[in-house]
Amino acid sequence: MISVRNLKVRYGDLQVVEDLSLDLFEGEILSLVGPSGCGKTTIVKAILGLIPYEGNVLISTSSVGYCPQKDVLFDWMTVYENAALPLILRGKKATENVKELIERFGLSGFEDKRPYQLSGGMRQRLSVLRAVLSGKDLLVLDEPFSSVDAYTRKKLQIWLSEEIHRMKSSAILITHDVEEAVFLSDRILVLSPRPTKVLREILVPFPKPRTLEVLSDPLFSELEKKILEILMNQL
Ligand SMILES: Nc1ncnc2c1ncn2[C@@H]1O[C@H](COP(=O)(O)OP(=O)(O)OP(=O)(O)O)[C@@H](O)[C@H]1O
Ligand SMILES: [Mg+2]
Repeated sequence: MISVRNLKVRYGDLQVVEDLSLDLFEGEILSLVGPSGCGKTTIVKAILGLIPYEGNVLISTSSVGYCPQKDVLFDWMTVYENAALPLILRGKKATENVKELIERFGLSGFEDKRPYQLSGGMRQRLSVLRAVLSGKDLLVLDEPFSSVDAYTRKKLQIWLSEEIHRMKSSAILITHDVEEAVFLSDRILVLSPRPTKVLREILVPFPKPRTLEVLSDPLFSELEKKILEILMNQL
């Protein structure tokens, strides 16, 4: 789905990505974890062609949904208009598809509200919904659940795991939360501080979609601990 070879990104004198290679395989959920400021957002922006970079990036689909780190919902538009924006921008009439997704994403009854009238979790679901309407073969989610409490976050993770599974999407997920990475991913790349490189690749073999059951599997906490150790050794 994605092949990145020898990626280098700099902002002026600041070398953020030095020589990074990664692959994303069909149907896979790949997480990037690493210290704040190491370059996770920069890597996905380069992969999506939103900033200049050196190296080779190949993406085998044009059906891409991007959920940026900072949500970009527009307060002057309704929930429905925010959701349908990718279709409106492409000159398509918003169709039944939007209504169906609004229902599936638990936003029914709020179509005519504005984003500021939603809870944090609803805003985040709306942002993912909009990404899905841009394209669902490849989802790129940059800390999609950063601003909600632990309980809501877990509910959203279970929901996301089911949705990605149902849509047969491939996904790159950026997260600070090591438990979230283990919970959602097939594979995790642990990144170093800037200039960032891949320190370790961790495989997470649990079946998908994931449920709360995996939390009690001894391998779950083993993987979590291993990743935390790698990250802490970098400090
Ligand atoms: N547009 C920009 N211009 C200049 N420097 C930038 C720009 N965007 C990011 N940076 C710098 O590049 C580095 C990597 O930023 P990036 O946002 O990719 O990190 P990150 O790993 O996503 O961090 P976080 O986990 O906090 O979101 C940081 O030092 C940041 O200050
Ligand atoms: Mg970031």
